[in-house]
Amino acid sequence: MFTTVSAPSKIILLGEHAVVYGVPAVAIPISSLRATVEIYESESEFVIVSSTTNSGRSIEVTSKDVENPLIRIIQQVTEHFGVTYPKVRLVIDSKIPIASGLGSGAAVSAAVGRAIATAIGKNIDNDLLNQFVFDVEKIHHGTPSGIDNTVIVYEKPIIFEKGKPIEPLKIGQPFHIVIADTGITALTRESVADVKRLYQEKPTDIKKIFDDIETLIRQATQHIADGNIKQLGSLVTLNHHLLQKLTVSSDELDNLVNTAISNGAFGAKLSGGGRGGNMIALVKKSDITQMKRCLLDAGASNVYDTQVV
Ligand code: MEV
Repeated sequence: MFTTVSAPSKIILLGEHAVVYGVPAVAIPISSLRATVEIYESESEFVIVSSTTNSGRSIEVTSKDVENPLIRIIQQVTEHFGVTYPKVRLVIDSKIPIASGLGSGAAVSAAVGRAIATAIGKNIDNDLLNQFVFDVEKIHHGTPSGIDNTVIVYEKPIIFEKGKPIEPLKIGQPFHIVIADTGITALTRESVADVKRLYQEKPTDIKKIFDDIETLIRQATQHIADGNIKQLGSLVTLNHHLLQKLTVSSDELDNLVNTAISNGAFGAKLSGGGRGGNMIALVKKSDITQMKRCLLDAGASNVYDTQVV
């Protein structure tokens, strides 16, 4: 092996789905849960071996698999620098559960993009990598807003608004989030398409929900800047209720959200595309261990925590 590169997972603190329609949203990288790529020199052809911890699957991809999103990012990087595929073996080890709202696809693309740039001896800056990962996200998700690739590539808490420069999130006081996985995989592409259909069917009602989400996000970002975590928590839960109205929650997500709230969380909501995947709960630092236990007892398949600083 000559080197290792990686990219983090992410959560959406507020604003998923509405962000696709131009509403600002807040996203946080999870640096402790990452996709890693090891780069080995290879005598023969270029090859990628990919394994995702939670799927237990291992797949091998070569340059002939032109439809594969991993090959797409490699094409973009090598074409940009005007070189052919290097003779390397890239081994992906992602700890990020797939189709669970944690940005696994974007993290793997970002890490592979960095790996191939390293293998050809080039430095790829985040702005360029972000563009390339966004293109691959379109293969995964159809009409992504760009929030996942952006928070993952820059690895900083952000306020993201489509078509606007990235705004770093101002954090008055660090706060803690417990993340719990329903264990149910769900494709963001599908929930995004369903919200689109709903918007076409009931434009006035759905626009009102997006407007309500926008209002709460403007208040929430001020609370984050002022360090008012309790008030932020109430808005996080309100965001969950608005996501329920967008039909992207599920019984399992609602169950974990209710468990978190009845066990003292400041607020809780689904995070990401919804219908399955992960939820988040804002908690006091001293409550993290107990909250994780409650969520596991309530059926979560996995729990994580992160500090937002
Ligand atoms: C997924 O993490 C967030 C969504 O809003 C989709 C997107 O913004 O591309 C559901």
